[in-house]
Amino acid sequence: MKAHIAILAGDGIGPEVTAEAVRILRAVAEKFGHAFILDELPFGGTAIDEFNDGLPVHTLKGCLEADGVLLGAIGGPKWGPTAPVRPETALLRLRAELGVYANLRPVAIQPALLEASPIKREYIEGVDLVFVRELTGGIYFGRKTKHEDRATDECAYSVAEVERITRVAGLLAKKRRGKVTQVDKSNVLETSRLWRAVSERIIRDEFSGVSIEHMFVDAAAMHLIRNPRSFDVVLTENLFGDILTDEAAMLAGSLGMLPSAALGDNRRGLYEPIHGSAPDIAGRGVANPCGTILSAALLLRHSLDLETEARAIEAAVSKALAHGARTADIAPRGASALTTRAMGDTILSAL
Ligand code: IPM
Ligand code: MN
Repeated sequence: MKAHIAILAGDGIGPEVTAEAVRILRAVAEKFGHAFILDELPFGGTAIDEFNDGLPVHTLKGCLEADGVLLGAIGGPKWGPTAPVRPETALLRLRAELGVYANLRPVAIQPALLEASPIKREYIEGVDLVFVRELTGGIYFGRKTKHEDRATDECAYSVAEVERITRVAGLLAKKRRGKVTQVDKSNVLETSRLWRAVSERIIRDEFSGVSIEHMFVDAAAMHLIRNPRSFDVVLTENLFGDILTDEAAMLAGSLGMLPSAALGDNRRGLYEPIHGSAPDIAGRGVANPCGTILSAALLLRHSLDLETEARAIEAAVSKALAHGARTADIAPRGASALTTRAMGDTILSAL
């Protein structure tokens, strides 16, 4: 198969981790006889420095024309909260322009990493859940005002927005264990009450065999640690999903392990690890490339329909971990750790 993949390395550790994912993609292309055309495009803070725009026109065009987009990470102290042009704005614009409203963030525990999590083994063994985070609405995209003595961020959701994301969760639950947990703050927020009513109706009317339960976000934060095996598909709005997935990443041992897929109504998706640009370790070659490599696997699965190839990557990551390959974030205290490149090498040879 011939496919165009846009590569947005971004800032901080972004270029280091995407470089490893690119090597994996090239190896998959060779092994399985595909032609992947990988187009590296400027994005984020580095693009701001060069073009005064985090999402330059030609980058957006390249992404819109690609079959899938693989992103490293963006942001850093150089473009902090008070900077006039910010990388985060570019990321939100990219998500909106691509129409990728459904952010899938799977949390699966690698058996080899059971000891890497700060949570006890007995709690996390067998955890297999996936977040469906709404990605192009809510408080991230609402009207903002800023005055001298006051600032506001509006959170708005339409029925249609909740319907379409609930359908993504329903479909996923049908293929999994048939359980959706919808997370909100409906004891306080009007948008949450809308979410609760709409998601309830969609699952009941359109997904027989799928059950839906509703949970307040504060309780969900607790249950994620106390009883993470009880979750299958977690459906939630943009901000709650952002926060809860960082928390859930610690079940898997490290933020560096988790991939994500952002999907819309066509096949083209945006794939990124859930971690940030980690300015504190950027440029040192010690970041964990697994989240990005696993995101590349999701790209093959969801945008190119290459299930066998996706599984080959996932198996290679598991195998490397089973053989003891560890970057610093998942290495036992005091043990020596692999560099980003050496981790990539180990996964490549497992492949
Ligand atoms: C994420 C990130 C982004 C988000 C930031 C960088 C805007 O934290 O993908 O989880 O909040 O969505
Ligand atoms: Mn986040």
